[in-house]
Amino acid sequence: MIRVTFVGTDGARRTVSAAEGATLLAAGQADGQPLEGTCEGAMACATCHVIVDAADFARLPPAAPEEEDMLDLAPNATRTSRLSCQIRLTAALDGLTVRIPS
Ligand code: FES
Repeated sequence: MIRVTFVGTDGARRTVSAAEGATLLAAGQADGQPLEGTCEGAMACATCHVIVDAADFARLPPAAPEEEDMLDLAPNATRTSRLSCQIRLTAALDGLTVRIPS
């Protein structure tokens, strides 16, 4: 299992375990995090936007140009923003911390 910590808009931290190969979006939704994921991973909505902890950002595979384009439209995006539907949880990402944008 891969551990991921979600930091809510109120600052509350919740650490969850997800199966290797699951998306970060699915892990967040399973925990009840407010990630809509309206387009189900088609990179057409940005409602799955999360802000990755700066210390963890370099561990993620780089975003595809389509993901970058969608992040340009996401409210409150930062330099470490990603679409959680595009992130597959692998052992290399164990202990990842991400914040839910306000
Ligand atoms: Fe729509 Fe991620 S679920 S872009």
